[in-house]
Amino acid sequence: MNTDVIIVGSGAAGLTAALALAERVKVLVLAKGELTGGSTAWAQGGIAAVLDAGDTFENHIRDTMVAGAGLNRLETVEFVIERAPHSIQRLVELGVPFNHEGNSLHLTREGGHSHRRIVHVADATGWAVQSALLKAAEAHPNITLLPHQACIDLITGKHEERYSGSGRVWGVYALNEATGKVEAHTARATILASGGAGRVYQFSTAPRGATGDGIAMAWRAGARVGNMEMMQFHPTCLYNLEVKNFLITEAVRGEGGHLLNPRTGHRYMPDYDERAELAPRDIVARANDSEIKRDGLDYVHLDISHQPPEFVREHFPNIHEKLIGLGIDMTKGPIPVVPAQHYTCGGIVIDLNGRTDLPGLYAAGECTESGLHGANRLASNSLLECFVFGEAAAADILARWDSFDAPPPVRPWDESRVTDSDEEVIIKQNWTEIRRFMWNYVGIVRTTKRLERAAHRIQMMFGEIEDYYGHFRVSTDLIELRNLLQCADLIVRSALHRKESRGLHYTLDYPGLLPEAQDTVLVP
Ligand code: FAD
Ligand code: SIN
Repeated sequence: MNTDVIIVGSGAAGLTAALALAERVKVLVLAKGELTGGSTAWAQGGIAAVLDAGDTFENHIRDTMVAGAGLNRLETVEFVIERAPHSIQRLVELGVPFNHEGNSLHLTREGGHSHRRIVHVADATGWAVQSALLKAAEAHPNITLLPHQACIDLITGKHEERYSGSGRVWGVYALNEATGKVEAHTARATILASGGAGRVYQFSTAPRGATGDGIAMAWRAGARVGNMEMMQFHPTCLYNLEVKNFLITEAVRGEGGHLLNPRTGHRYMPDYDERAELAPRDIVARANDSEIKRDGLDYVHLDISHQPPEFVREHFPNIHEKLIGLGIDMTKGPIPVVPAQHYTCGGIVIDLNGRTDLPGLYAAGECTESGLHGANRLASNSLLECFVFGEAAAADILARWDSFDAPPPVRPWDESRVTDSDEEVIIKQNWTEIRRFMWNYVGIVRTTKRLERAAHRIQMMFGEIEDYYGHFRVSTDLIELRNLLQCADLIVRSALHRKESRGLHYTLDYPGLLPEAQDTVLVP
């Protein structure tokens, strides 16, 4: 299919860009699986914005930079935070039913924020945002939404019928998951809004499809990626043998929840940081990890049962209901929690217009390294980044529209040398192996030796997976496995490159901080 602009991803970043572009051009949104399958629909806590009379942009900027351990790009931080109130206003206009307190929006609090500034829809903000954006996109005549399209690779100058080495991006090859056929979709501009790579880890709060596809596609096409070692671990994922990736929002701590050692009942966070449970996420996750490892525990306790039961039920209705179904009553006792991978701070390098290194290719949202998060994302700054950069990318494309050529004829996907797989076990085996060694060797606390072990495993697997990819028809599982391995490689290489402990990258071999904060930028 040929259109004006292709967007890979139907989450907050993709749909924000689609709605802004559709005022003037035709947009095709492609999504792997269902349109609601990304992280956006799973977001709980909310969206950060300076809306309280006692708060200022300077406060929010400072909190973001402190959480990001100074690796943030100040220009980006200012750009995003100053646009936050506008983004919230836009969501209100789209019908997102944010919680109110009297006539004002209710603001909750999360770790690392010096003020209450998180707007939310109870504890299911993401679902409300996803639904409102999708409703508006579905109603727009210039937007075509195509679910069940697993994009494989970007179409670049080398896929033109008359080869060009321009590096220009003309769209994507995508596997239609319903027909099993690979189709070429071309456009004047392409936006990657494909989310993070959380599923590279064994334990993650992210949905099944968070396999870093956009990051890997951009890298293979020749774009730089940055700060991939900065993988965020959320301190409080539910510990449950059946439900493996259910998040317990940071807002539980924001509304007074305490972390307790289940063996002693001791509230330990004040021992680790003066901000206690409201320290930035990297500090709280490391504290939980340390308590668990030191005492040989399976989990720690998160306890908000000292608050009135109606307060807890009113603030956290979905979490309360989910836990009741699992036999845990958070109004009466503690919740067992563990840290789990949560957010990909690094990604495709973009500028303030969402432009990547490649002509015709833009990116927005969790798949990017925009400079906002630095070495550790401040809670609830992520959805905000999606709205601001979704709009910025759309605005830049529209402003430069006349300079974008129509796509040339491109070569169709070539399946002449592949057959149906007779060894799908290889996919499952490799998938499990990557996620396990990434968790064990490239987790919350790292060492050079463990990173080198991971790097060695990755090099061995590259040969096996590329061989498999070269011989068999693609499936979504195979596309994801190839991308997971690519992202694992980018994470490990970046981690080996950083010779200090900063933010989320904590290594026993280099526990100190270097005087100057420098991005880890990998060049293909
Ligand atoms: P996503 O919403 O993840 O969407 C990615 C899209 O890309 C999907 O449509 C997917 O199908 C598509 N896609 C991916 N690969 C392909 C492919 N190969 N082909 C085609 N399509 C593809 N942030 C906050 O700011 N506040 C919160 O309260 C908050 N809570 C969170 C709770 C949880 C449990 C999680 C996991 C994250 C939370 N985050 C929160 C982070 C935030 O939700 C995400 O960073 C944000 O939603 C990312 O949006 P996105 O548009 O970049 O990507
Ligand atoms: C949460 O609700 O704890 C997640 C918030 C975020 O990831 O920003």
